[in-house]
Amino acid sequence: MKKKKVLFVCLGNICRSPSAEAVLKKLLKNENLENKIEVDSSGTIDYHEGEPSDKRMQMHAAKRGYVLDHIARKFNSEKDFAESDYIITMDNMIYNDVITLDVKKQFRSKIFKMSQFSGNIKFDEVIDPYYLGTEGFEKVLDILEDSSKVLLNRIKDDIESENKIRN
Ligand code: 4NP
Repeated sequence: MKKKKVLFVCLGNICRSPSAEAVLKKLLKNENLENKIEVDSSGTIDYHEGEPSDKRMQMHAAKRGYVLDHIARKFNSEKDFAESDYIITMDNMIYNDVITLDVKKQFRSKIFKMSQFSGNIKFDEVIDPYYLGTEGFEKVLDILEDSSKVLLNRIKDDIESENKIRN
């Protein structure tokens, strides 16, 4: 079976989406699912393209055992819509931007808000921590750690349903 591909999307691809990528990758590693699910991230703007993640975000993530080694890239409508199975946006503006990029409305069912996977921590948006300081970075990680578990369960359920249909 083809690997499922998750693509997280934020604005600059240096804080929230690379953190979401690292958090989900760690869960996949712990559950030995790296051969079934792959993860990437991107931003809707190219301002930070080619840069490593924000130093402050890296530092807060490292304290929890995550290595942010992603290099920022812009969301690529030409290939990311077709190649991804779950396109997960960090806030409502990014969601609306990605929906708008899907000009022919072909990929609507693949586009999600991270808040759809709220677990114990209820939230509407993964807030942009860029101008918020320490509290913002910690809050982003709290939200991502909690919601990634719900997201992973959803993906595992989808894989199981597909396997049942096949057999
Ligand atoms: P991110 O955070 O979207 O979570 O990567 C931001 C990074 C950069 C900027 C804004 C938000 N910026 O304005 O450059």
